[in-house]
Amino acid sequence: MKNKTTIRKATVKDLDDILKLNLLLFRNEHKKFDKSVDLKWTYGKEGKKYFKDRVVKRNGFVEVVACDGKVVGYIVGGISERVSYRKSAKYAELENMLLDSKFRGQGIGRKLTKNFTDWCKKNKVDYVSVTASAKNKQAVDMYKKSGFKDYNITLEMKLK
Ligand SMILES: CC(C)(COP(=O)(O)OP(=O)(O)OC[C@H]1O[C@@H](n2cnc3c(N)ncnc32)[C@H](O)[C@@H]1OP(=O)(O)O)[C@@H](O)C(=O)NCCC(=O)NCCS
Repeated sequence: MKNKTTIRKATVKDLDDILKLNLLLFRNEHKKFDKSVDLKWTYGKEGKKYFKDRVVKRNGFVEVVACDGKVVGYIVGGISERVSYRKSAKYAELENMLLDSKFRGQGIGRKLTKNFTDWCKKNKVDYVSVTASAKNKQAVDMYKKSGFKDYNITLEMKLK
């Protein structure tokens, strides 16, 4: 039988666990999809500040998934800056999420995504976006099943 998981709003006490999981996410991205991911970012000044701000500030959204008292997943998002060429409206971004591999495929990712989009609706957000590596089929499929649609395609060329 699968152990029961609960989803709750993150507090500063969860930051250590969130950083650990974010490093796991970055290692995974670096190994499978994107060699430019900076593995020193998470525990550097910027990474630590980013996660703390997202937890404590009103423009951030952070939830964790717990099982038997242990944090096994997280999601982070928040209100984002409007790029100047887009019309005046409220924008938000689902910025990163990861679930321990033992807990995948049970609908938890989709539930976290819905919690974030519900928070966006409550905060009168007009547009919500998420960026994923094009090769990360698992994540892209999950986002599409959650209602996201192809919007931009970023093309990149490695020059050296
Ligand atoms: C992306 C992630 C959070 C999805 O969470 P999850 O709880 O496994 O997703 P769900 O169970 O809600 O799955 C919803 C859909 O995602 C896709 N999916 C989930 N697991 C999959 C797998 N192992 N293989 C392929 N697609 C998968 C399916 O389309 C699934 O739909 P279905 O349930 O109708 O089959 C999780 O796979 C993860 O942590 N991946 C590693 C980190 C990562 O890539 N994060 C996203 C960075 S942008």
